[in-house]
Amino acid sequence: MKIILTKNYAELSKKSAEIIISQVKSKKNSILGLATGSTPIGTYKAIIEMHKNRQVSFENIHTVNLDEYRGISRDNSQSYYCYMKKELFNYIDINLKNTYIPNGMNENAQEECENYENIIKNLGGIDLQILGIGHNGHIGFNEPSDKFSTKTYCVKLDDRTIEANARFFDSFEDVPKEAYTMGIDTIMSAKKILLLVSGASKADILYETILGEVNPQVPSTILNNHENVTIIADEDALSKVLKEKPNIIK
Ligand code: F6R
Repeated sequence: MKIILTKNYAELSKKSAEIIISQVKSKKNSILGLATGSTPIGTYKAIIEMHKNRQVSFENIHTVNLDEYRGISRDNSQSYYCYMKKELFNYIDINLKNTYIPNGMNENAQEECENYENIIKNLGGIDLQILGIGHNGHIGFNEPSDKFSTKTYCVKLDDRTIEANARFFDSFEDVPKEAYTMGIDTIMSAKKILLLVSGASKADILYETILGEVNPQVPSTILNNHENVTIIADEDALSKVLKEKPNIIK
């Protein structure tokens, strides 16, 4: 695992945007795995800025998102499809036909999950997967469990995840209770992974992720088994790790 320490969220966002842009420049038809949530918003803003300054084109890029709520349609403002348009796609030269997000309205979960895995396979796999992390260690919507998940599947969301996401909805009751998510194997098949972590509230889980045993009760620990993971985290998020291992950043 490579760990990049940044002073704050702004620096984290700039640094991660630079890594994504460098991937897009080195392989113009890259397949990018994207995340939603609050953490990548600054990264997407920085990418939009760099695109405006003509530093990069997304014309031949394909994207696959980690997850989507089940039972929410694409035109619902809470859907991850709307999020991606609002936070990134509307402002760059990507062809929307090249962007993939699970279809939350497909009631046939098995069909939807197989379709999504086939999309990723037919694209040739993910070159760079962006991840955020939940307070319980979830990546995508892979919640703590007795075993690591495999392929894309329909997941029942943890109460803690529903609570954390309630800030985007009118109330806890309005948050969907299920989602389609890439499985752990799907995520781990990406050639490179970039995990973004910001804020003191993530210090405990980042500590467990980096220094804990690989364990499905903390899904993010699986990243220790991937050979090309970069974590970009700010001082607040890395505070507990640095207290115990001040020399971890070389
Ligand atoms: C988002 C996703 C989630 C988030 C995680 C952190 O597509 O899959 O795993 O990355 O819940 O969310 P924030 O960034 O809002 O703390």
